Amino acid sequence: MFADEKLITVPFDVYRYDPAHGGEPRYQHYELRLAPHTPILTGLLRIRDEMDPTLTLRYSCRSAICGSCAMLVNSKSRLACHTPVGPEVKEHGRIVVDPMRNQPILRDLVVDQQPFWSRYEKMEPHLILDPKHPMPEGQTTAMSPAQVERFKETPRCISCAACFSACPAVEADPAFPGPMALAKLYRFVVDPRDTAQTHRLQKIQTEGLWLCLRCHLCTEACPKDVRPSERIRDLKELAVQAQGGTEAGSRHAIGFLHNIEERGTLNELKLVRQTSGIGGLAASLPQGVRIWRKKPELTQSPPPIEGLDQVKKIYSTLKDDKSEES
Ligand code: SF4
Ligand code: SF4
Ligand code: FES
Repeated sequence: MFADEKLITVPFDVYRYDPAHGGEPRYQHYELRLAPHTPILTGLLRIRDEMDPTLTLRYSCRSAICGSCAMLVNSKSRLACHTPVGPEVKEHGRIVVDPMRNQPILRDLVVDQQPFWSRYEKMEPHLILDPKHPMPEGQTTAMSPAQVERFKETPRCISCAACFSACPAVEADPAFPGPMALAKLYRFVVDPRDTAQTHRLQKIQTEGLWLCLRCHLCTEACPKDVRPSERIRDLKELAVQAQGGTEAGSRHAIGFLHNIEERGTLNELKLVRQTSGIGGLAASLPQGVRIWRKKPELTQSPPPIEGLDQVKKIYSTLKDDKSEES
């Protein structure tokens, strides 16, 4: 404890559940006197050591390195060893601790991470090399600083699954690979030594890339600033650059881009056609008729917005930046 730091009362409400013994989920209340900078993990370990030896949790390094102690702290995915009690008590009056979401609970705060790791495995998270050009044995393979710069965030990942727990797309769709798996995939797609870029992009386009909701909750949850949602955006951009509009997701993105450039606003009808083709438009006809009856203006081509010249300027600057990069 720092010499001049006062102790505060920290109320904990900790999720308790023991499915193996048929217990019902419940919250157990504990109180400790702690210095405000004390990590939540330290508080939980004191509860376990001094009050309740049955409390089950997972941890190892206590230094935000191993990724074992991710849990929900006042409903947000956090590393317990890296989250001090003081600010939580100040903001919420207490500390509610739950196990991570999107993974089955084994006991108390410990989850079965199989769903997280099985999605990761599907990304083939290793270099795929051309057998005709194997790595030179015993030698290093040089990369330029610019090449390394492209994936400098992803090696920071500690596989804590905080992003996976925070992701609504994982919750909604078992096919969605999850933010960490996609960030890792990006790392291999831009690695100049990897020879499977086309295979990787084609595969992921049909295996969930476009299911990401762009909510950025994964980036908000990530304790290592990997910014998975930005890596997913980069993957989408690479997929469109390399393969064009081959999927409904990529066609939607391209259509959206052109719509805004053209009029500064969305033309919903046109976007449906651009995304799903004439067949998709026909399938949406009954819904279109309902919309037309209630809000006919939504089925008309919208007029260009005021200040469209400013929008066009932004597009032109972005196009110039891109051509300078390439
Ligand atoms: S941005 Fe995408 S990957 Fe990240 S939490 Fe939202 S839906 Fe999940
Ligand atoms: S991307 Fe961030 S939140 Fe997700 S597993 Fe890696 S370190 Fe954890
Ligand atoms: S205990 Fe290792 S990251 Fe928290």
